[in-house]
Amino acid sequence: MEDIIIVGAGGFGREVGMLIDVINQYSSEKKKYNLLGFVDDGIKQHTKIHEHEVLGGIDYLMNNDKKCALVLAIGNPSIKRELAAKLKNYHFPNIIHPNVSLNKKYVTIGTGCIICEGSIITCDIAIGDFVIVNLACTIGHDTVIEDFCSFMPAVNISGEVTVKEAVYIGTGAKVINQLEIGKNAIIGAGAVVSKSLPENCTAVGIPAKPIKFN
Ligand SMILES: CC(C)(COP(=O)(O)OP(=O)(O)OC[C@H]1O[C@@H](n2cnc3c(N)ncnc32)[C@H](O)[C@@H]1OP(=O)(O)O)[C@@H](O)C(=O)NCCC(=O)NCCS
Repeated sequence: MEDIIIVGAGGFGREVGMLIDVINQYSSEKKKYNLLGFVDDGIKQHTKIHEHEVLGGIDYLMNNDKKCALVLAIGNPSIKRELAAKLKNYHFPNIIHPNVSLNKKYVTIGTGCIICEGSIITCDIAIGDFVIVNLACTIGHDTVIEDFCSFMPAVNISGEVTVKEAVYIGTGAKVINQLEIGKNAIIGAGAVVSKSLPENCTAVGIPAKPIKFN
């Protein structure tokens, strides 16, 4: 059993708490993770979150000398990147719901990823570090997802897509096959991406068009 702390005590952080409970229920060990609590700079220390509490802010982790694992339950890719660099001495396991369809024979996956219930990830796919695949997403064959990407619920990525580093894809968006999404792009909820998108853009709509560059 490994001690673990969730970084981010917002709605998604609470969902990741539930996910850790489910992993423990399905684990062949007695209990895979011992959840110590949450860390969040924006929520008062000792605030109750379900049966756990906020242990403090990021400083708590900087000054903590006890060995434990962390999970970054934060959707914003650039905040994830910043925290991963700051907290690089911790262990970041992959937190994957037991009913996710993902066969490690066909999919490579880095570290610090969160893959939520109902997602389907098929074959010859490479997923980097600190990637979030939220509820009920699909990722098709021969796709590459680089580090720090975040996919919100019900995102569909077709085959042979390359999603460069730190891309955020809003809920329900779809990306058709053989496209490339540039680094740091943001894709709006419900978008249908039918052409490759440049880096640093925010793109929305059907078909998705860049509306600004960040
Ligand atoms: C795309 C997005 C990131 C843009 O946010 P923003 O940079 O703050 O932009 P704004 O809200 O100022 O919107 C800019 C324009 O785009 C439009 N727009 C925003 N999101 C849109 C979307 N998903 N689809 C179509 N148009 C959208 C706005 O209506 C606005 O249009 P206007 O200039 O004519 O008024 C955001 O709207 C979005 O879709 N986020 C995803 C949220 C999500 O999936 N959350 C999941 C949580 S689990």
